Amino acid sequence: MLYSARLEEHTRKPTPRWKRAQLEVQTTTLWDYPSQHYGGGAQGDKDYKGVTPAYVIWNLLERYTRENDVVVDPFCGSGTTLDVCQDMGRKGIGFDIAPYREDVQQADARKLPLENDSADFVFMDPPYSTHLEYSGHPQCIGELDSREPAYYEAMDRVITEAFRVLKDRRYFAFYVSDSFKRGKPFSPIGFDLMQLARRRFHLVDIVSVTRNNRTLKRRNWHDAAVDGNYFLRGFNYLMIFKKELGKQPFVSPLPPDSRLH
Ligand SMILES: C[S@@+](CC[C@H](N)C(=O)[O-])C[C@H]1O[C@@H](n2cnc3c(N)ncnc32)[C@H](O)[C@@H]1O
Repeated sequence: MLYSARLEEHTRKPTPRWKRAQLEVQTTTLWDYPSQHYGGGAQGDKDYKGVTPAYVIWNLLERYTRENDVVVDPFCGSGTTLDVCQDMGRKGIGFDIAPYREDVQQADARKLPLENDSADFVFMDPPYSTHLEYSGHPQCIGELDSREPAYYEAMDRVITEAFRVLKDRRYFAFYVSDSFKRGKPFSPIGFDLMQLARRRFHLVDIVSVTRNNRTLKRRNWHDAAVDGNYFLRGFNYLMIFKKELGKQPFVSPLPPDSRLH
């Protein structure tokens, strides 16, 4: 297989053998990954703020794409998607508002320089509210708080753009976390973005991916969570969708709102 050939090339930053992720296709909706990178090398930059675990992208591409498929990442950051695509013989196209490396093109995820129906798969790991400081670029969605309408207006345009560039009967996935800030309303970004996406896409499944962030290893963060009676984010959602033209997405038959006001 192509990706194993590339894995042997990864000799720049060898990872200790005990830390290397075993590349296994996940079969349940609970995913975990032993390290940011798989194999002996690097996909993306583990020091990039908000880097996506390469293992997650590898699993998606293994299931939903074939060799030579075009894979688009509108929030490409340190280029994890591009590196996984190279490993697996897919054609990765990455965009970012503030490109971090040369093979990532400068573009706003709300307006991609791509033809309609040109991608075989779209993956995205967008900013989750204002939790991380990225480039400070005025169009950076990480400057928008998810408790304000502007965040969802921006993400609605991003999802609409993903729908436009994706071919019919192909898949789209996003990786997000909810937003908890002390003293502010809990912001369920995962479910809210899912509802936006369901206006166009068919929901295929929801996966929970264990977060292995370094900050989660800090004892004082856990102590503060107990003292303050709140929870640290232990997982990210991976929401998987399919574009199916001519077929209305399924909407859950919820009863009408019967609350007494
Ligand atoms: C969570 S990071 C993505 C990490 C990436 N998948 C990786 O593995 O390195 C989110 C990225 O979205 C980018 N971004 C924010 N607003 C954007 C916009 N309007 N259009 C395109 N990219 C944007 C940020 O610059 C940042 O690199």
